[in-house]
Amino acid sequence: MKIFITGGMGYIGSHTCVELLNSGYEVMIYDNLSNSNVKVLERIKVITGKEPVFIQGDIRDEELMATSMDGCSAVIHFAGLKAVGESSQIPIEYYDNNINGTLCLLRAMKKNSIYNLVFSSSATVYGDPLYLPLDENHPLSATNPYGRTKLFIEEILRDVYTSDKNWHIALLRYFNPIGAHSSGLIGESPNGIPNNLLPYISQVAVGKRESLSVWGDDYDTVDGTGVRDYIHVVDLAMGHLKALENIASLGCEAINLGTGNGYSVLEVLRAFEKTCNKNIPYKIESRRVGDISSCHANAKKAKELLEWSATKNINDMCSDGWNWQSKNPNGYE
Ligand code: NAD
Ligand code: WQD
Repeated sequence: MKIFITGGMGYIGSHTCVELLNSGYEVMIYDNLSNSNVKVLERIKVITGKEPVFIQGDIRDEELMATSMDGCSAVIHFAGLKAVGESSQIPIEYYDNNINGTLCLLRAMKKNSIYNLVFSSSATVYGDPLYLPLDENHPLSATNPYGRTKLFIEEILRDVYTSDKNWHIALLRYFNPIGAHSSGLIGESPNGIPNNLLPYISQVAVGKRESLSVWGDDYDTVDGTGVRDYIHVVDLAMGHLKALENIASLGCEAINLGTGNGYSVLEVLRAFEKTCNKNIPYKIESRRVGDISSCHANAKKAKELLEWSATKNINDMCSDGWNWQSKNPNGYE
């Protein structure tokens, strides 16, 4: 079975390609390399012993996509811009890339009579939680253009399904993906100064940055710092395999992919220090604008519908993340 993977060269996409290839799927990666490196292909080949097909292209190029996905039975749609802060500075690019790109993808799929779609959504669609843990029925909202692209795309996909019940669509709402493949050959390789916690901690540990700024220690949490549901990227990748396996039984379903556990910034920092056996200097700073206090998933629906649950704990996430960072201090560069 051949799967068309938009954004397959990126962080989550590359890990998903590895698991798909290891499970006997053929993969066709479609990516414009705007936030990834072509070296990923070679690394995937070393890990799996198989060569994925790669087409360099943009998801807004409907014609190229339509011809490229010939013979595929399903699409996993990772491609998109994802930096929250940047999305407020260049919202038109975000709406064009993420939403227009998705519309092009849907038309290309229809041309090829492909109706199975797994979409990368995000826990960001829950906005500031009204209650925890977050289940899929929690009201949806967004506080920045990036989050709105995810929210709007979810709405578009629900409309598409309502108009034609031949579609099978999994809206996978990721919590906070971290970690890397245990080989240390693929991992997260952010451009410039990392926005997210784990890449920042890893770069301090490897000596590329001086100290971590902890954004706020006055939240109503275990130690005052923000709490998130971190999930190992390989667990997340496995969630996509399970979604594909079960896609025929789904209509259009939103499904959380999280562990159900929350960890504070300082708890993650301590776990990382233990793994790398180094002190990670940090400074407490004021809260980051737009941050929520706490968030973790109710992961029951994924268990019920996909027979999937996370298997790796915070120590696994930190040790695989450190293995990647220490072997590749400059990412893929
Ligand atoms: P990533 O940036 O590493 O991967 C995205 C890939 O898409 C990159 O390889 C990039 O080159 C490609 N791409 C971007 N725009 C494209 C376009 N117009 N045409 C073709 N390719 C394009 O990001 P990631 O962390 O792997 O995230 C994958 C998806 O998951 C994204 O949609 C993101 O919004 C979503 N998501 C990520 C997180 C997270 O914390 N990493 C959390 C929730 C949801
Ligand atoms: C985690 C915690 C920060 C960096 C973001 C997006 C979300 C999703 C995942 C795509 C928070 C604290 C962080 C730092 C810190 N992406 N922190 N110092 O904000 O939960 O989610 O990525 O969909 O949409 O918003 O993740 O890793 O940025 O932050 O103290 O240098 O770490 O305040 O409590 P976040 P994060």
